[in-house]
Amino acid sequence: MRSENSHLLVVGSGIAGLYGALLAAESGMRVTLLTKGALAQSNTHHAQGGICAVLGPDDAAPGDTVQAHIADTLVAGAGQCDPEAVRILCSEAAADIAALERFGVVFDRNLATGKRALGLEGAHSAARILHAGGDATGAVIADGLIAAVRDAAGLGLITVLEHCFVTELLGTDAALDGMHDAGTSHRAAIAGLAYLNAADERHTLCADAVLLASGGAGQLFEFTTNPAVATGDGVALAWRAGATVGDLEYFQFHPTALAVGSNFLISEAVRGAGAVLRDGAGERFMPRYHPEGDLAPRDVVSRSIAAHLAATGQDTVYLDATGVEEAQGPGYLARRFPTIDAATAALGFDWSRQWLPVAPAAHYWMGGIATDLDGRSSLPGLYAAGEAACTGVHGANRLASNSLLEGLVFGRRAVADFVAAAAAGTSHWPTLPIVPRTLPGGELSGGTVPESAVTRAELSRSELRHLLSSQAGVVRDAAGLRQAATALAGALPEAQGTRRKEAEDNNLRLVAHLLVQAALVRENSVGAHYRSDFPQPPVPVPSGPARDSHFWFNP
Ligand code: SIN
Repeated sequence: MRSENSHLLVVGSGIAGLYGALLAAESGMRVTLLTKGALAQSNTHHAQGGICAVLGPDDAAPGDTVQAHIADTLVAGAGQCDPEAVRILCSEAAADIAALERFGVVFDRNLATGKRALGLEGAHSAARILHAGGDATGAVIADGLIAAVRDAAGLGLITVLEHCFVTELLGTDAALDGMHDAGTSHRAAIAGLAYLNAADERHTLCADAVLLASGGAGQLFEFTTNPAVATGDGVALAWRAGATVGDLEYFQFHPTALAVGSNFLISEAVRGAGAVLRDGAGERFMPRYHPEGDLAPRDVVSRSIAAHLAATGQDTVYLDATGVEEAQGPGYLARRFPTIDAATAALGFDWSRQWLPVAPAAHYWMGGIATDLDGRSSLPGLYAAGEAACTGVHGANRLASNSLLEGLVFGRRAVADFVAAAAAGTSHWPTLPIVPRTLPGGELSGGTVPESAVTRAELSRSELRHLLSSQAGVVRDAAGLRQAATALAGALPEAQGTRRKEAEDNNLRLVAHLLVQAALVRENSVGAHYRSDFPQPPVPVPSGPARDSHFWFNP
């Protein structure tokens, strides 16, 4: 089937995709938004703690400044952030928050002052986390944007295609000819895509550009806070089309997912409110590992948990929020964190009186499709934003509550670039920092898989997740990574797959392979990438090493 052309195809329905689609439609662009599930199935919808912004002197915490937000982001990123991307993120935040409110998103307010309520999270020097619905920030934002998208769809401004799984980015000729042949897609300019509908029937769409905002890949790991849709599809699509990807070795593990059930996230905002980590003997162990204790950067807390369990021979740590309830009065936890309260109660916990067993779980991929500051990838016609992208804004470890913000700021910038280029009738594309390299196990090029891939072996999704968790998780080393690399190379698919499940599995195998290769190449420990064969002191050097660009993978 050949569908009507759009100006812009947006893939993904998290904050970057929804917001980008709305802004493009407001600018008069014909937009088609595709998502592989329902609109509400996204990592954004699961986000609890909030979204950072220093709103201005009247609305910020006393003494807080944009400069302080920038400094905190750079320190958490362990010196691996792109400073200009961070400056843009923090200084443009307030305007995008205002735009969110214009689309109907309502943030929680302090009853006494009427101002927006501000929470604290790890590695922030001030309370600057806006939240909504208590601890349902992502759901409130996503639902507000989805309502606006549905309104726009009702007016014919946006076409929404739910349950449509994108399998291929199409190059100029392939898209314009409506060609479906495999092998026609690896052209310089992206001008369309192919997707499978809910019945696994293949269709193609053409457009002037594609914005990939398809989220992260927590499903690479056994324990994750991410929903089932987070399978790294955007990175896989972009890689196959020949785009540069970067920072793939940096995967953030959130320290406090529930250690029972389906790893439900216990927001860092709970520690921001005063909850503390304890070991099985009741010791508050975090002060042993970092001066900021329970509110140290996430990578430090996750690693400290692993180190403490290994050192003590215990098997579980606990989050103790009972003191918060005691300090704030009965019913506080349920009022401030209603989502967590309901989820823990459903599992039989009364967290106002009991400690919760918690463990680190895969949460956020700092790496992704390499982009410049306007969301442009290395391929003309292909933009990326949100977790699928790598702007360099998070460095080696994302600061809490900067992820929704990144989707907003860089989703908007990508669309603004596209609209400006369309108005001018021109576009220019960046030369991203590409350093050709030979990777262990064979040279990797976008659009191809290594030689070793021709010997295909079975590797089920659960085996893959176990492999990544045990060999490429919070702590890694060369021996384990090599073992994973060998297993994955043998399991890489020769083709993308013609059915949704098969295509999704193949995406996971490909991005797992890329992550492991990146982790092997980086022979040091920095941020969320910790190599036990290259140990570092547990307390990071505040300014960190200069950001290096040599871990971009070259198409
Ligand atoms: C949380 O609420 O702890 C998650 C927020 C984030 O990942 O930034």
